[in-house]
Amino acid sequence: MDYSLQNHKSYIGRPITELPTPSLVLSKPVLERNTKLLLEDVKKLGITFRPHVKTLKCTEVTRMMLGDGLHRKIVVSTLCEIRGALELVNEGILDECLYGLPIFPGALPHLHNLSQSVKVQLMIDNEQQVDILENYFEKMSPKAAPWSVFVKIDVGSHRAGLMTESPSLPKLIQRIESSPAATIHGFYCHAGHSYASRTEDAAAAVLEAEVEGVGKAAKFLINEKPDRQIVISVGSTPTAHVVRRLQATLPEVMELELHAGCYPSNDLQQVATSLVTPEQQAIRILADVCSVYPGRNEALINAGTVALSKESSDFPGYGTVVDRPQWCVVRMSQEHGILGWAESEQTTRLMEHTGSKSSTGEKAESAFKVGDKVLLYVQHACITSAQHFVYYVVDEQDIVRETWVPWKGW
Ligand SMILES: Cc1ncc(COP(=O)(O)O)c(C=O)c1O
Repeated sequence: MDYSLQNHKSYIGRPITELPTPSLVLSKPVLERNTKLLLEDVKKLGITFRPHVKTLKCTEVTRMMLGDGLHRKIVVSTLCEIRGALELVNEGILDECLYGLPIFPGALPHLHNLSQSVKVQLMIDNEQQVDILENYFEKMSPKAAPWSVFVKIDVGSHRAGLMTESPSLPKLIQRIESSPAATIHGFYCHAGHSYASRTEDAAAAVLEAEVEGVGKAAKFLINEKPDRQIVISVGSTPTAHVVRRLQATLPEVMELELHAGCYPSNDLQQVATSLVTPEQQAIRILADVCSVYPGRNEALINAGTVALSKESSDFPGYGTVVDRPQWCVVRMSQEHGILGWAESEQTTRLMEHTGSKSSTGEKAESAFKVGDKVLLYVQHACITSAQHFVYYVVDEQDIVRETWVPWKGW
């Protein structure tokens, strides 16, 4: 049993330096600023918003992302996220959960059960999935309403979805529309490749391409059924960070919906896009220094692959020391992280924003001693946070004010 899970509440009111390590620390003021900013952008544009809840999978952050019920739909990547979010359905602030993976048979009975409590929507990108829905539908008695589905469009990330030019796309649309088991609610894309953007212009271009791609796909349906109301769902955290630049004008029958998930916390991957500042990162990992090695100018901490993840970005290593950004986790094994000196263009940028206690040529033995606590910025908040059982939520002074327990499992 994880120690924090049993004892987290006893840390409320205490400084983070007293936390057990490794621990995940969340800044509530930063989370609040990040979520408010996006809600304002969405409001100004007059579009709807569907947060993805896969990053900080918990009731408290999801409630914040929804603006306390101002927006009432989410997208999830696991069944467990729908189960967790049912608390918000019971609170009366959530109506719709989109299961974000293309549907496969094993998930269907679970989703059917969950659909007794909340409207569940499915993602489709293959005619075989329609067969599966029909088989399930045929066995059902009494018959449920047809599944409300999004057709997944690939706008360049080549993970899931059909390209708009694929001859399979119009066929799939027709197949769904003629099925008693499904009805098209909208068209959805996730521009994972937007993470390669390094300027606002580049991210805005990906956003425009997303809208154009799903809009084009939707036209296959609208050309057949001109009065059909359709949702066009676009987004990712980098494109959400520039959503205010959106200029597209869409036919009246198309409702534009933005989705994004990582933006409440951000991370080094998001800072690397240059669309957010280092101070907009709400997530840090606290670790202990376990040893120092002057001969190789390195130190050992108790946060390795499990506590941090093997994700990378333009920032060197697997995590950067917050107050000494030239030091980062250069190598890892399961529970060991090696801090080494790795000055780079990106770490210089961090230093400009956050300052640094270190100067060039610093020795590990003068920077760290056994028992020091280090705080690290992480490369990818979604994967790192999935490893932790408790989120320690702090104020501006890094005093723990709340503890949030995330939804775990699949
Ligand atoms: C299907 C889908 N939609 C939306 C998102 C949210 O993207 P981001 O985390 O960049 O905000 C993700 C994230 O992986 C996703 O898989």
